[in-house]
Amino acid sequence: MQNTISGFSKLKKAEKIDWLLSTYFSDNVNSRTTITQYWNTDEKLQKLHDEFIENTISNFYLPLGVAPNFLINDQVYTIPMAIEESSVVAAASKSAKFWFDRGGFKAKVLSTTKIGQVHFTYHGDTERLRRFFNIIKPKLINETSHITKNMERRGGGILDIELKDKTNELDNYYQLHVTFETLDAMGANFINSCLEQFAKTLTNEAQEFKTFTSVEKDIHIVMSILSNYVPDCIVRAEVSCKIEDLKDKDIPNPKAFVEKFKQAVSIAEVEPHRAVTHNKGIMNGIDAVVLATGNDFRAVEAGVHAYASKSGRYSSLTHCKLTEDTFTFSMEIPLALGTIGGLTTLHPLVKFALQLLGNPSAKDLMKIVAVAGLAQNFAALKSLTTTGIQKGHMKMHLMNILNQFEATNAEKDAIVNHFKTNTVTHSAVVEAIKALRNH
Ligand code: HMG
Repeated sequence: MQNTISGFSKLKKAEKIDWLLSTYFSDNVNSRTTITQYWNTDEKLQKLHDEFIENTISNFYLPLGVAPNFLINDQVYTIPMAIEESSVVAAASKSAKFWFDRGGFKAKVLSTTKIGQVHFTYHGDTERLRRFFNIIKPKLINETSHITKNMERRGGGILDIELKDKTNELDNYYQLHVTFETLDAMGANFINSCLEQFAKTLTNEAQEFKTFTSVEKDIHIVMSILSNYVPDCIVRAEVSCKIEDLKDKDIPNPKAFVEKFKQAVSIAEVEPHRAVTHNKGIMNGIDAVVLATGNDFRAVEAGVHAYASKSGRYSSLTHCKLTEDTFTFSMEIPLALGTIGGLTTLHPLVKFALQLLGNPSAKDLMKIVAVAGLAQNFAALKSLTTTGIQKGHMKMHLMNILNQFEATNAEKDAIVNHFKTNTVTHSAVVEAIKALRNH
């Protein structure tokens, strides 16, 4: 078959690139330069990156920005953000500055329980399975002691194991539903190792269980894996102030502003199409900090969106409360994060990002990440309900359009100056470049 290759993984990096270029690219030289220009000149650093994943051919850069002036529980942070989208860092920074003078952000970790499951099938009497489970439960825990001893010494470990009968949903389907405390580690490897040991103990013990029939002894493990849905690993972030204190250059009439703002949140609470975009804006902030601190943004995304659907209808993650004189904007989200293990000690920029945040515990990082999400949503809703999103977003996107047209520094200065008093749209920028170049 065309363009397939066997044994690719065994080739050297240079050989992989040669195959790729000769198979897919006619402009061999340019494409090779595209790949190699992103290689780090420090060979040791490049090797470190090569070994993060498999079949590495180059590095894929994302900008690392910072948003200063975040006051969280009376402590000031400059938050690192890795993201490709213009206006996100500016929006976070603007929100931080706005709330700095209004009491800052309050954040609290409500729970930190993580979950893993052993999914298995059993053909037989459920009550006998339950009796068997109760007898072997201490053994299930004991036989993981070689995995759990360090975690337990630090104060974490296995919290509980439950047997769940899921046969109403799927024939013969049961699970061990296990809860864990993994402290400053995200805990994926720890949890999965424990689960795989539970699976072994479960099948071995079933074979030996005298009151099982021969069919009942034959428990089949389907899989053992952590769950990225962590509705008991929750952090709450909030801002609140007197309505009249919201007044600023963008908010001349705070009372009218909060009513419209609340309406925007209410729409996202009841209307899934809007909720998805609303929550995407929150994830702009969350993913950027999660990435910068070396955490797994896919796990966070999956868990957060499942949480947004927990009522059966996908809804807003943030909520707004108004009393006679007070505005409160808040969010509770599940976040399973780590500040030790994984990339946190390997990737130099991740180490830098964590240092910038004062080497936080996982709980502190949960608070910082949630605040970044809330701040982002506040900025987006503030723009949406006042000027509209395009004014600020396009102002920040201007440089991307100029770079598409390979504008010189002098052209950039002239055009940025022009758009200080004119609205940025793609076509207006194109016109301005043409006019400048024809001048
Ligand atoms: P502005 O009022 O034009 O900004 O806002 P400014 O020039 O007056 O500056 C005020 C502060 O904003 C600055 O203070 C910075 O903190 C920040 P200073 O540093 O001067 O003391 N700021 C910047 N920070 C870094 N670099 C910059 C910069 N400019 C301002 N260049 C702004 C401009 C874009 C901040 C504002 O319009 C805004 O917050 N817009 C919202 C943008 C947004 O949400 N972008 C996300 C992408 S759109 C999206 O994907 C989500 C969405 O669909 C979600 C939803 O629908 O809910 C919208």
